[in-house]
Amino acid sequence: MTKDHTSPVPQPRGRFITFEGGEGAGKSTQVTLLLDRLRKRGIEAIATREPGGSPHAEELRNILLSGLVAPLGAEAEALVFSAARIDHLDQKIKPALKAGMFVVCDRFADSTRAYQGTLGKVDPAFIHALEAVAVGDTRPDLTIILDVPAEIGLQRASLRRADANADRFEGENLAFHQGLRQAFLDIAKQEPQRCIVIDATLPAEKISELIWADVERRFVTVDSQMKARS
Ligand code: TYD
Repeated sequence: MTKDHTSPVPQPRGRFITFEGGEGAGKSTQVTLLLDRLRKRGIEAIATREPGGSPHAEELRNILLSGLVAPLGAEAEALVFSAARIDHLDQKIKPALKAGMFVVCDRFADSTRAYQGTLGKVDPAFIHALEAVAVGDTRPDLTIILDVPAEIGLQRASLRRADANADRFEGENLAFHQGLRQAFLDIAKQEPQRCIVIDATLPAEKISELIWADVERRFVTVDSQMKARS
């Protein structure tokens, strides 16, 4: 049978994977491990982070984490995080997805929902509207929530920081971080298709295996089948 050249050949497309969770959940370690696994399978992938990820957004990151915007209130912070997100999407995320790459991002819009929305008590309708403007259609295909009890996460974060001062959010109290954990679990409950929750007290290698099993099942197997058919 000859191939029908009038119909487009299905192309594997880029995928957008985000990591979320409280402080000290081990996101950056898992971003690196996932990137290694994707590349070993011959998949082009980039790692990035928020706030930041593009030169302008990194400048806004410094301003946000220094606490300079905090006195203006959580709504203003949500606006600046979103401004950074717009640049990051335009400069880095969208072009990579368009080129068919996997984009693995350490924090994204769910952090605004949890930190500024739930914890900062910003009206959910405002957060929703901001997300519609800043993110639009470029929503994550998969969000991995690394779940760790607040006490353990804070302890890990303070060990990692050693003598350096806590940043804007690490300096918040235990109740804040317990609320944060619940906020991410609530997001996962609201969007069970997009989000998976992983127990981040497990050894890093085990966490990486659990994540890979999900990524492979969702995307890698599907993409290889598409390639084989084309
Ligand atoms: P970072 O050092 O990257 O922290 P972590 O290792 O925990 O990811 O600092 C980012 C901080 O910014 C973190 O405390 C979460 C916070 N944040 C928000 O409050 N809103 C947002 O939209 C994003 C992306 C991050």
